Amino acid sequence: MQTMTATHPNLHLVNHPLIEHKLAAIRDRSTKSFDFRRLLQEIAALMTYEVCREFATVAGEVETPLERTTVHRLAAPITVVPVLRAGLGMTQGVLDLLPDARVGHIGIRRDESTALPIGYYTKLPQDISAGPVILVDPMLATGGSCAHALTILRDAGCKDLRVVCLVTVPEGLRRLAQEHPTVRIYAAALDRQLDQNKFIRPGLGDAGDRSYGTS
Ligand code: PRP
Repeated sequence: MQTMTATHPNLHLVNHPLIEHKLAAIRDRSTKSFDFRRLLQEIAALMTYEVCREFATVAGEVETPLERTTVHRLAAPITVVPVLRAGLGMTQGVLDLLPDARVGHIGIRRDESTALPIGYYTKLPQDISAGPVILVDPMLATGGSCAHALTILRDAGCKDLRVVCLVTVPEGLRRLAQEHPTVRIYAAALDRQLDQNKFIRPGLGDAGDRSYGTS
Protein backbone atom coordinates (compact mmCIF):
# COMPACT_ATOMS: atom_id res chain seq x y z
CA MET A 1 0.00 0.00 0.00
CA GLN A 2 2.95 2.36 0.39
CA THR A 3 5.92 2.87 -1.88
CA MET A 4 9.22 4.67 -1.33
CA THR A 5 10.78 6.52 -4.24
CA ALA A 6 14.44 6.52 -5.22
CA THR A 7 14.45 10.29 -5.85
CA HIS A 8 12.90 11.13 -2.48
CA PRO A 9 14.05 8.50 0.02
CA ASN A 10 12.10 10.10 2.90
CA LEU A 11 8.80 10.05 0.99
CA HIS A 12 6.31 7.26 1.54
CA LEU A 13 3.58 7.48 -1.07
CA VAL A 14 0.44 5.88 0.31
CA ASN A 15 -1.24 4.29 -2.69
CA HIS A 16 -4.72 2.86 -2.38
CA PRO A 17 -7.74 2.94 -4.70
CA LEU A 18 -9.90 4.43 -1.94
CA ILE A 19 -7.42 7.24 -1.34
CA GLU A 20 -7.16 7.88 -5.11
CA HIS A 21 -10.95 8.03 -5.35
CA LYS A 22 -11.26 10.52 -2.50
CA LEU A 23 -8.32 12.59 -3.81
CA ALA A 24 -10.17 12.90 -7.14
CA ALA A 25 -13.09 14.47 -5.31
CA ILE A 26 -11.03 16.75 -3.07
CA ARG A 27 -9.03 18.12 -6.05
CA ASP A 28 -12.27 18.97 -7.89
CA ARG A 29 -12.88 22.74 -7.72
CA SER A 30 -16.65 22.15 -7.52
CA THR A 31 -16.34 20.27 -4.19
CA LYS A 32 -17.92 22.42 -1.45
CA SER A 33 -16.49 23.06 2.04
CA PHE A 34 -18.66 20.48 3.79
CA ASP A 35 -17.48 17.68 1.47
CA PHE A 36 -13.93 19.02 1.43
CA ARG A 37 -13.71 18.74 5.23
CA ARG A 38 -15.25 15.25 5.22
CA LEU A 39 -12.79 14.08 2.57
CA LEU A 40 -9.79 15.53 4.45
CA GLN A 41 -10.87 13.58 7.50
CA GLU A 42 -11.47 10.34 5.60
CA ILE A 43 -8.16 10.44 3.71
CA ALA A 44 -6.27 11.22 6.93
CA ALA A 45 -7.86 8.19 8.60
CA LEU A 46 -6.93 5.88 5.72
CA MET A 47 -3.34 7.18 5.75
CA THR A 48 -3.05 6.79 9.54
CA TYR A 49 -3.36 3.01 9.16
CA GLU A 50 -0.09 3.02 7.16
CA VAL A 51 1.66 5.65 9.28
CA CYS A 52 1.27 3.45 12.38
CA ARG A 53 2.54 0.28 10.69
CA GLU A 54 5.93 0.28 12.43
CA PHE A 55 4.87 1.64 15.82
CA ALA A 56 6.25 -0.37 18.73
CA THR A 57 3.91 -2.58 20.76
CA VAL A 58 4.25 -4.15 24.22
CA ALA A 59 2.97 -7.55 25.23
CA GLY A 60 0.33 -7.88 27.92
CA GLU A 61 -2.36 -10.32 28.95
CA VAL A 62 -6.16 -10.33 29.00
CA GLU A 63 -8.81 -12.78 30.04
CA THR A 64 -10.94 -13.63 27.03
CA PRO A 65 -14.34 -15.11 27.87
CA LEU A 66 -12.60 -18.52 27.57
CA GLU A 67 -8.97 -18.21 28.76
CA ARG A 68 -6.00 -15.97 29.48
CA THR A 69 -4.02 -14.91 26.41
CA THR A 70 -1.19 -12.66 25.28
CA VAL A 71 -2.10 -9.41 23.54
CA HIS A 72 -0.14 -6.49 22.13
CA ARG A 73 -0.84 -2.81 22.69
CA LEU A 74 0.79 0.34 21.37
CA ALA A 75 3.85 0.98 23.52
CA ALA A 76 4.02 4.76 23.76
CA PRO A 77 1.62 7.70 23.90
CA ILE A 78 0.99 9.14 20.44
CA THR A 79 0.50 12.83 19.69
CA VAL A 80 -1.09 14.27 16.58
CA VAL A 81 -0.12 17.87 15.79
CA PRO A 82 -2.12 19.78 13.15
CA VAL A 83 -0.56 22.83 11.52
CA LEU A 84 -3.32 25.46 11.73
CA ARG A 85 -5.54 25.97 10.00
CA ALA A 86 -5.74 23.34 7.30
CA GLY A 87 -4.24 20.56 9.43
CA LEU A 88 -7.25 20.75 11.73
CA GLY A 89 -9.31 19.07 9.04
CA MET A 90 -7.11 15.98 9.19
CA THR A 91 -6.99 15.70 12.98
CA GLN A 92 -10.32 13.95 13.54
CA GLY A 93 -9.40 11.41 10.86
CA VAL A 94 -6.25 10.48 12.82
CA LEU A 95 -8.23 10.39 16.07
CA ASP A 96 -10.80 8.06 14.50
CA LEU A 97 -8.06 5.40 14.48
CA LEU A 98 -6.10 6.62 17.52
CA PRO A 99 -8.77 7.80 19.96
CA ASP A 100 -6.27 7.95 22.85
CA ALA A 101 -3.85 10.23 21.00
CA ARG A 102 -3.16 13.67 22.45
CA VAL A 103 -3.47 16.73 20.22
CA GLY A 104 -0.89 19.53 20.09
CA HIS A 105 -1.41 22.61 17.95
CA ILE A 106 1.05 24.70 15.94
CA GLY A 107 -0.22 27.86 14.25
CA ILE A 108 1.70 28.87 11.13
CA ARG A 109 0.59 30.94 8.19
CA ARG A 110 2.45 31.54 4.98
CA ASP A 111 3.02 35.19 4.16
CA GLU A 112 1.21 35.74 0.87
CA SER A 113 3.87 37.98 -0.66
CA THR A 114 7.05 36.23 0.48
CA ALA A 115 5.70 32.64 0.93
CA LEU A 116 7.73 32.52 4.17
CA PRO A 117 6.23 30.84 7.26
CA ILE A 118 5.10 32.97 10.21
CA GLY A 119 4.49 31.10 13.47
CA TYR A 120 1.74 32.48 15.73
CA TYR A 121 0.75 29.74 18.19
CA THR A 122 2.18 26.63 19.86
CA LYS A 123 0.53 24.39 22.46
CA LEU A 124 1.95 20.90 22.97
CA PRO A 125 1.59 18.14 25.58
CA GLN A 126 4.38 18.50 28.17
CA ASP A 127 5.60 14.93 27.66
CA ILE A 128 5.21 14.98 23.88
CA SER A 129 8.69 13.46 23.47
CA ALA A 130 7.54 10.25 25.21
CA GLY A 131 6.15 8.82 21.98
CA PRO A 132 5.67 9.21 18.25
CA VAL A 133 4.42 12.51 16.85
CA ILE A 134 2.30 12.74 13.70
CA LEU A 135 2.41 16.23 12.15
CA VAL A 136 -0.55 16.78 9.82
CA ASP A 137 -1.02 19.42 7.10
CA PRO A 138 -2.76 18.73 3.77
CA MET A 139 -0.16 20.61 1.73
CA LEU A 140 3.62 20.54 1.75
CA ALA A 141 4.57 23.18 -0.81
CA THR A 142 7.89 25.02 -0.31
CA GLY A 143 8.20 22.99 2.90
CA GLY A 144 8.77 26.18 4.91
CA SER A 145 5.76 25.73 7.22
CA CYS A 146 6.48 22.07 7.78
CA ALA A 147 10.20 22.65 8.42
CA HIS A 148 9.28 25.41 10.91
CA ALA A 149 6.84 23.10 12.73
CA LEU A 150 9.39 20.27 12.82
CA THR A 151 11.98 22.59 14.36
CA ILE A 152 9.48 23.51 17.11
CA LEU A 153 8.85 19.80 17.74
CA ARG A 154 12.57 18.96 17.77
CA ASP A 155 13.15 21.79 20.24
CA ALA A 156 10.44 20.20 22.41
CA GLY A 157 12.53 17.01 22.46
CA CYS A 158 10.58 14.97 19.90
CA LYS A 159 12.62 12.27 18.17
CA ASP A 160 10.07 10.06 16.43
CA LEU A 161 8.50 12.49 13.95
CA ARG A 162 6.31 11.74 10.93
CA VAL A 163 4.63 14.16 8.56
CA VAL A 164 1.31 13.31 6.88
CA CYS A 165 0.16 15.42 3.95
CA LEU A 166 -2.19 14.90 1.03
CA VAL A 167 -0.17 16.52 -1.73
CA THR A 168 3.45 17.57 -2.02
CA VAL A 169 5.99 18.54 -4.68
CA PRO A 170 9.71 17.80 -5.26
CA GLU A 171 10.73 21.30 -4.08
CA GLY A 172 9.26 20.80 -0.60
CA LEU A 173 10.59 17.28 -0.28
CA ARG A 174 14.11 18.42 -1.14
CA ARG A 175 13.95 21.14 1.51
CA LEU A 176 12.78 18.73 4.20
CA ALA A 177 15.42 16.19 3.21
CA GLN A 178 18.05 18.89 3.80
CA GLU A 179 16.66 20.39 7.01
CA HIS A 180 15.07 17.33 8.65
CA PRO A 181 16.65 14.31 6.94
CA THR A 182 15.42 11.73 9.47
CA VAL A 183 11.72 12.64 9.23
CA ARG A 184 9.45 10.43 7.14
CA ILE A 185 6.94 12.15 4.90
CA TYR A 186 3.71 10.27 4.11
CA ALA A 187 1.83 11.71 1.14
CA ALA A 188 -1.16 10.60 -0.88
CA ALA A 189 0.20 12.25 -4.04
CA LEU A 190 3.45 13.68 -5.38
CA ASP A 191 2.39 16.55 -7.63
CA ARG A 192 4.30 18.08 -10.53
CA GLN A 193 5.71 21.40 -9.28
CA LEU A 194 5.23 24.74 -7.57
CA ASP A 195 4.05 27.60 -9.78
CA GLN A 196 5.37 31.18 -9.67
CA ASN A 197 3.06 31.90 -6.68
CA LYS A 198 4.41 28.84 -4.82
CA PHE A 199 1.11 27.00 -5.23
CA ILE A 200 1.17 23.24 -5.75
CA ARG A 201 0.23 22.24 -9.35
CA PRO A 202 -2.08 20.57 -10.10
CA GLY A 203 -2.79 20.59 -6.35
CA LEU A 204 -6.11 21.12 -4.67
CA GLY A 205 -6.13 24.86 -4.09
CA ASP A 206 -5.73 26.43 -0.65
CA ALA A 207 -6.89 23.73 1.77
CA GLY A 208 -7.49 26.17 4.64
CA ASP A 209 -9.67 28.46 2.55
CA ARG A 210 -11.54 25.59 0.92
CA SER A 211 -12.18 23.95 4.32
CA TYR A 212 -13.57 27.06 5.93
CA GLY A 213 -15.02 29.02 2.99
CA THR A 214 -12.66 31.97 3.44
CA SER A 215 -11.28 32.35 -0.09
C1 PRP B 1 -0.88 26.39 3.71
C2 PRP B 1 -0.80 24.91 4.02
C3 PRP B 1 0.56 24.76 4.68
C4 PRP B 1 1.36 25.79 3.92
C5 PRP B 1 2.16 25.10 2.83
O1 PRP B 1 -1.27 27.08 4.85
O2 PRP B 1 -1.85 24.41 4.81
O3 PRP B 1 0.54 25.04 6.06
O4 PRP B 1 0.44 26.72 3.33
O5 PRP B 1 3.04 25.99 2.25
P1 PRP B 1 4.61 25.90 2.44
O6 PRP B 1 5.00 24.44 2.34
O7 PRP B 1 5.13 26.68 1.26
O8 PRP B 1 5.00 26.51 3.73
P2 PRP B 1 -1.63 28.64 4.81
O9 PRP B 1 -0.41 29.48 4.98
O10 PRP B 1 -2.44 28.91 3.58
O11 PRP B 1 -2.48 28.84 6.14
P3 PRP B 1 -3.98 28.39 6.45
O12 PRP B 1 -3.99 26.90 6.58
O13 PRP B 1 -4.29 29.07 7.73
O14 PRP B 1 -4.84 28.86 5.30
